[in-house]
Order: sequence, then C-alpha cells, then structure tokens
Amino acid sequence: MGFRSDFLWGGATAANQFEGGYNQDGRGLANVDVVPQGDKRKDISHGKIKMLDFEEGYYYPAQKGVDFYNRYKEDIALLAEMGFKTFRLSIAWTRIYPTGEEVTPNEEGLVFYERVFKECKKYGIEPLVTLTHFDIPIHLIQKYGSWRSREVIELYKKLCATLFTRYKGLVTYWITFNEINMILHSPFMGAGLVFEEGENPEQVKYQAGHHVLLASAWATKIAHEIDPNNKVGCMLAGGNNYPYSSRPEDYFLAIEKDRENYFFIDVQAKGFYPNYAKKKFEREGIHIEMQEGDLKLLAENTVDYVSFSYYSSRVVCSDPSVSQETAGNIYKSIKNPYLESSEWGWQIDPLGLRSALNQLFIRYDKPLFVVENGLGAIDKPDENGKINDDYRINYLREHIREMKNAVEVDGVDLLGYTTWGCIDLISASTGQMSKRYGFIYVDLDDNGNGTMERTKKKSFEWYKQVIASNGEQLD
Ligand code: BG6
Repeated sequence: MGFRSDFLWGGATAANQFEGGYNQDGRGLANVDVVPQGDKRKDISHGKIKMLDFEEGYYYPAQKGVDFYNRYKEDIALLAEMGFKTFRLSIAWTRIYPTGEEVTPNEEGLVFYERVFKECKKYGIEPLVTLTHFDIPIHLIQKYGSWRSREVIELYKKLCATLFTRYKGLVTYWITFNEINMILHSPFMGAGLVFEEGENPEQVKYQAGHHVLLASAWATKIAHEIDPNNKVGCMLAGGNNYPYSSRPEDYFLAIEKDRENYFFIDVQAKGFYPNYAKKKFEREGIHIEMQEGDLKLLAENTVDYVSFSYYSSRVVCSDPSVSQETAGNIYKSIKNPYLESSEWGWQIDPLGLRSALNQLFIRYDKPLFVVENGLGAIDKPDENGKINDDYRINYLREHIREMKNAVEVDGVDLLGYTTWGCIDLISASTGQMSKRYGFIYVDLDDNGNGTMERTKKKSFEWYKQVIASNGEQLD
C-alpha cells in the first residue's frame, strides 16, 4: 500500500517568478515586481530599504519571469507529457485588480487564468491555485501600508469572491497565502511591509499577520459558500529545527523556534490564537487590535488541509559559541555536521521531510500536501545540449522515499506532492535564474539574456516514470 490512487503528483510555480508579462493586458504593479537582483535585494525584501517603483540601474527579473504568460500552452503540454495530475500556480492579484481598488475586475486578467485552467483540464491536470504568493498591489502599500491596515481585508475578499465565482468548477484546490510565516522573515517580499523610523517591526508584523489571518479565514468561508466542493489549504514554509546537542536548553530552543513558524498555521488549522503566542505578545508588549467577531471568524473557518514547502531542516543551539551558520529557505541555520548542503548552502535532509510530515499530521490531524520541494542547482548542458541532472534526481528520489515511508509506515494522510519550479524559474531569495529547480530547462541567464527556449532535462523522463508508477518506481 503506497500512495493513494488519486495522489496528486505535479509541480509548483508562482506568478511573480514565472509569468513575466508584468505590464501586459492591464496588469498593475506589485511589491514582488520591484525587488531587484543584486546586493540590495535582501534589505528590500526585509522592508529595511524602501523601493516602490522601478529605479534606474537595477535589473528586475520578475518583469520577464520565464514568460509563462505567453507560453502557457507549450508549458502545460510539457507538464502533461510528464503525466502531471496537478499543477500549482498562483494568481497575480494585479492582473485581476491592478490597484486592488477597482470596482470591476480586469477582464483580460481573468481570461488569462481561465485559459490556463482550461488548458490544464484538457489534459486532466487539476489546477492547485495559490491566491497570494507574496504579492500585493503597490497602490495598496502606498495608500494603506499594506496588510498593516484592516481595509486591505475587504479588498482581498473582493478578489477572492471574483476568483471563486469565475472559476467555479474549474478549480477545486486553493491555498490562501504562500508560506504565511514569511511575513516574519521577509516582510516586504512576503507581505508588502516597509518599516518606518521608530516603528516596532514585531508589532507591525503581528498586527499585519492578524489581518492576513482574517483574510485567509474569509477566503475559506467565501470559497465554501460559493462551492462546497472547494478545498482550501494554509501553507507553511516547513522544515523543523533540530537541537544542536542533547542539552535540554537546545531541545527547548528547537521547540520555541518551531512554534514561531507554526504560529500562523496553528490559527488557520485550529481556529484560535495559541496560549504560547498570547503570552509572547504580553511579554513583549505586542498589542493586537481586534474587532468583535474576529475570533469567531477564525474559529469557524479553519482550513481543509495543511500544505507546506520543504527544502531542508534547521539546527538551533543555545550556546552562542556555536556559530557556524549556513543558508536556508528564508533564513539561516546553524550548520548540521551530519548533512550535505546544496550549492547555495541549503542542507539536504530527506528524513527531515518524514519528520515534518509526522509532526504536522499529529499537530493538526488534517490531510497534508507537500506543495514545494526540490534542489536549486546550477545546470550545465553537455556537448549535445543535454542536462544530465542526476543530482536533482537523487535529491527528489530520496525525499519521495521518505514521503512514502511517512504514508506507508507512519500512516500520514497525504494528498499530493508538487516539486518546486518544475519548469526553471526565477529564484525568490536571490533573483537568479542560475538557481534552477526544473525538469525543463529554460534558456535564460541571470541578466535576462536568452531565447527562453524550453528543453527537457534527464529528470523529465525520470519524474514521468515516478508519476506513471504512482511513486513505486524511483530508480
Ligand atoms: C519558497 C517560495 O520559499 O521557496 C518560493 O515559496 C521559492 O517562491 C522557493 O522560490 C525556493 O526558494 P529560492 O530562493 O531558491 O527561489
């Protein structure tokens, strides 16, 4: 007994890293568009430097993405050839409501996604749609300071109602906010927050977080009202923290760090603010402004499933003299002496995926969905132009193996698995093109040069066989 017979195998993308066409057919500008490549990217992403428009002398990779906007037919045909059962993509809010405040939606934006969904359906591919993958219209940042203002919730509700109504019957699986805990670690890129002089960033982030949680609960409610078949999930940047040693202090620090990440999805999945968070707010003088009805809304609209990204585990240590760090998804970690790392320093830990699946399943008792996993690596074509990406195949194989153990041995209820960046796309953290995840190579370099031509890598055939055998044939 392996994966369920309707297991959703596929791949994942995000509008801002994939679509390009940033100014086509009436699309407005969003936070994710104005994060340039280069050494300022990090401070801009973190809300420390304010950049709300394109500036001279910078390269903005999201403008072009990898041109899915104009090549979606060719791309979906390739995914279908691999046998995809699902394809995860996100909606660019500014294609539908360019400033966020229009009364009527932009028809051209709606038509684009309708075509994409119909194209998927043509091949029996189930769209898995993220309503918000980090993006918010620039206009809402300028006028309201992004999610720090409650007004944004109403505008988000309008977006959701438009999408659920228009795509009723075409889309069933939705995710409200990608990596919701990103708001704590990359507040501008993740949620459009820029901090003003003298502000307490923690206060701003958790107040904005409350608004995002309300918006997510509204999305869940509206989705269920419009179509009771809709299935709505939350999404966590996953990967647990290991204690560096068996010292009790290290173990407890790992619990605290995990909790920090779980906080948002605790609310989305359980429907209430956990006590550890209330105590933290009390201790740190963080005051969350709430209105009557907020807690009831959260309680009554929990998610149907819990989705998460998994790239690596992390390590924490209570002893400050242990300080050798390495990079990881969103933020750094202490280096784990037992693990190898990717070329970008992300530690490779397949068993950590099984641990994460077990922890999440026990904590929430809801179906899970692994919606991102993969290896960002430099691909070099051989003399025949072929990419022999055995390193990627090895990474994915070992992760799928552990995912299978979680299902078969541990009894985790798992809906599906979508690898990140199934077609090469722009890296969120670095803005590079050379950090590639795909089964399909895109001819584009870090400076935006290239034909954008698509080529199958060795992993293309391998993943095709994994899907065809429902995860039985991994070698
Ligand atoms: C997740 C994001 O954090 O990791 C994606 O949801 C991102 O948007 C992915 O691309 C991989 O990270 P990176 O920085 O290698 O692109």
